[in-house]
Amino acid sequence: MCGIVGYVGRRSAVDVVIDGLRRLEYRGYDSAGVALVADGEAGGLEVDKRAGKLANLEAALADHPLPESFCGIGHTRWATHGVPSDRNAHPHLSADGRIALIHNGIIENFAQLRAELESDGIEFASDTDTEVAAHLLGREYVMEGNLTEAMTRVCSRLEGAFTLLAVAADDPDTVVGARRNSPLVVGLGRDEYFLASDVAAFIAYTTDAIELGQDQIVTIDRSGVSVRGFDGSPSEGKPFSVDWDITAAEKGGYETFMAKELREQPQAVADTLRGRIDESGQIVLDEVRMSDQDFRDVDKVFIIACGTSYHAGLVTKYAIEHWTRIPCEVELASEFRYRDPVLDRSTLVVAISQSGETMDTLMAVRHAKDQKARVLSISNTVGSTIPRESDAVLYTRAGIEVAVASTKAFLTQLAACYLVGLHLAQVRGIKYADEVSAVLDELVAAPGKIAQVIEGLEPVRQMARDCALNGGSGGGRVLFIGRHVGYPVALEGALKLKELAYLHAEGFAAGELKHGPISLVEEGTPVIAIVPSPRGRSLLHDKIISNIQEVKARGARVIAVCEEGDRITSAHADFVIETPASPTLLAPLLTAVPLQEFAIEFATALGRDIDQPRNLAKSVTVE
Ligand code: F6R
Repeated sequence: MCGIVGYVGRRSAVDVVIDGLRRLEYRGYDSAGVALVADGEAGGLEVDKRAGKLANLEAALADHPLPESFCGIGHTRWATHGVPSDRNAHPHLSADGRIALIHNGIIENFAQLRAELESDGIEFASDTDTEVAAHLLGREYVMEGNLTEAMTRVCSRLEGAFTLLAVAADDPDTVVGARRNSPLVVGLGRDEYFLASDVAAFIAYTTDAIELGQDQIVTIDRSGVSVRGFDGSPSEGKPFSVDWDITAAEKGGYETFMAKELREQPQAVADTLRGRIDESGQIVLDEVRMSDQDFRDVDKVFIIACGTSYHAGLVTKYAIEHWTRIPCEVELASEFRYRDPVLDRSTLVVAISQSGETMDTLMAVRHAKDQKARVLSISNTVGSTIPRESDAVLYTRAGIEVAVASTKAFLTQLAACYLVGLHLAQVRGIKYADEVSAVLDELVAAPGKIAQVIEGLEPVRQMARDCALNGGSGGGRVLFIGRHVGYPVALEGALKLKELAYLHAEGFAAGELKHGPISLVEEGTPVIAIVPSPRGRSLLHDKIISNIQEVKARGARVIAVCEEGDRITSAHADFVIETPASPTLLAPLLTAVPLQEFAIEFATALGRDIDQPRNLAKSVTVE
């Protein structure tokens, strides 16, 4: 949520900052802006900022290039306070115009600070919460004469979540940052240093980085990096090395990042499983800092997550309860702490977050820890806040996911969650060793089957285009239905379509349809049914066939995602998407994929922006 970049070094700051913003644009794209400190004795700030996507700012800079500079900051915004506009775009300036500041997060006491500043005669140039920090910093800088000292004093006055970066007109060698609750990493180059919300911003220049802790202030200048606490005491960040390169952050010949990331799923799932099952079939979760005894002591599991990650959690509930017989609840992270859940030392809270920075999930993790529960996080981002604050972590290895709508993060979350469920079953001796190995063999075979699904997507693309272009019929909506693990897949399919196509799409437990939502079905309404395997005379299969008949009788156009060779389903559906046979619990690894492609193609046919859907941002760092 908002991407921020700072740079000091030997290269053109505007080039480095714009390049970084391009790679961070998935975090927000309501407006973009830069502030550069002009090189030379006189210094001076040069600012340009524009509503809309980064391309607008780039076009403006091409028309009116800024003077040479080796020190600057840049911002790409996801609006919270104030509409997306030029005036609300960051950077914001102090009243004397000598300080430029950018911000990610929400300053919760901004109204009170704004009133105080206005009563001192300061006129505001925007509707943002951020501008109060710019004015406070300007005032402190006049008194302190040192940007780091001034920032330290300002942070003591701010409440909420914030990463701030600032430059001063008379200091062409320094960028100062502050971090509370929102991400900020430092990139270490040779005679050049970077500050960014995410390593993607500087990966083209260096893979050496420092992760900052909570409530830290960082100063970069041409001679290095220094870190201190909000209380002014000397402090340190944690060095790490980024293990992927710039090609991972490029489209690699695909039209969109999402299409590329969808096709990376077989590899991403294989990478997530790699090295985590030893030769004797035992699950080895090295990074998990919980002993087998800790896992044996667990008597209840809570899964907390948001959006797509929540859907991965819903699938996991079925797996954990079936494999371990431990009660498992799944809760939206944004609701969790407000309803006073019953937690104690023997509760295992599993927090699922691709970014590791989602504020709702972070706050739920903190609540769980306050209640003495153990927290295991499943995240794709090494060094991010949620894993850092958890008792244990299992990293998915999806690589960077740039498209705002999640694909490979979802499938790797499922893979990691299955490992956790099977590990629990193994250490508690709930399942026979051969039962666990049989599931593990199927899990290891999943990447090959996902690849098979991807190879067969062309008919799905054509059908999706057809549905999109005939969107006038069927009430302009698409419904998704499923039972058991097919239900969370239905929710995920609907979410993908909603976020990409801006269309009313909704997922339902198929059995619930008759309790109300079936009234949404009219002639031509596409209903996508996730059908479980028919093998073993599955009761679930029979039930969903009845649900398909119910919607067909009311005019629905039924698209079924079913197991290959499922003749009963083909006889009832208007269009069939076949997936390879799979155990019921692992089927979401396969059935989710055609729904991702359906959403991409449907939205493309409507001319939507696939990688950057309107109103969204990838990493949601506000509550
Ligand atoms: C949807 C999507 C979001 C995220 C959600 C949680 O395609 O990507 O719903 O899943 O914002 O994000 P993380 O997993 O980073 O906590």
